[in-house]
Amino acid sequence: MPHTFWDGRAASLEDQALGPVENPIEMGNTHDDMIATLGGIDGYAKYFEEAFGSPEVTTDRVAKAIADYERTRMSGNSPYDRWKAGDESAVSEQVKLGDELFFDKAGCNQCHLGYNFTDTLFHNLGVGYDPDSGAFADPGRFAITQDESETGAFKTPTIREVTLRAPYMHDGSVATLRDVVELYDRGGDANPHLDPKVQPLNLTDEEVDALVAMMESLEGEGYRDSPPSSFPQ
Ligand code: HEC
Repeated sequence: MPHTFWDGRAASLEDQALGPVENPIEMGNTHDDMIATLGGIDGYAKYFEEAFGSPEVTTDRVAKAIADYERTRMSGNSPYDRWKAGDESAVSEQVKLGDELFFDKAGCNQCHLGYNFTDTLFHNLGVGYDPDSGAFADPGRFAITQDESETGAFKTPTIREVTLRAPYMHDGSVATLRDVVELYDRGGDANPHLDPKVQPLNLTDEEVDALVAMMESLEGEGYRDSPPSSFPQ
């Protein structure tokens, strides 16, 4: 994954892991205080020793540890995956129709492709655009690249486990998967930087439902975890 966050501001999971610690609307802490807190808990020393060869707690090590944990959280073995692996009965006919639409008439695979259903690139669908002021509430990728043409562009998210992530889009402005498909069906929301790949689709009600069913079939396993029963003291 070359970028994390919706606007891609973090180049790696390691960078991403440290962002929320200092963000005033997330954890509101500082990296120095984080290190002081963790360093003051003796029980962590042996884990740092095991992982890094010495017991020191550093910002860099904390970032690596969190990022490596995240790398073990995968998603797979969904009904959709079992179908693609050859089990014709793993999904309904509706899901199969949705899949056909996703890769053909609806053209979702122009951006949502590969195992994770994302090109990991940035696109503008018009989400968060205010036609009255002519501005985006969040400039998206533009904030990072200063490239005018990337105004209002956000990273293509994975479709895996999408049922667990409502409300949708970078600003949570789209409530349901059906609403998402309807946004695409009307050709996105008009604005000066709309991605030309987003075009009106003229889907029937039945086709909208099939696309929703296809996305729902991507709920799998592998990412769930149970918290430790006790923490280092
Ligand atoms: C031009 C590239 C592009 C195409 C084509 C496209 N998507 Fe997307 N999709 C994106 C981007 C970019 C976002 C995030 C946009 C934002 O937050 O502003 C997104 C968001 C989504 C989300 C929300 C996921 C979440 O976690 O919030 C779903 C669901 C989705 N797309 C499904 C589809 C379906 C179904 C189609 C086909 C009808 C489709 N996409 C076509 C690029 C695309």
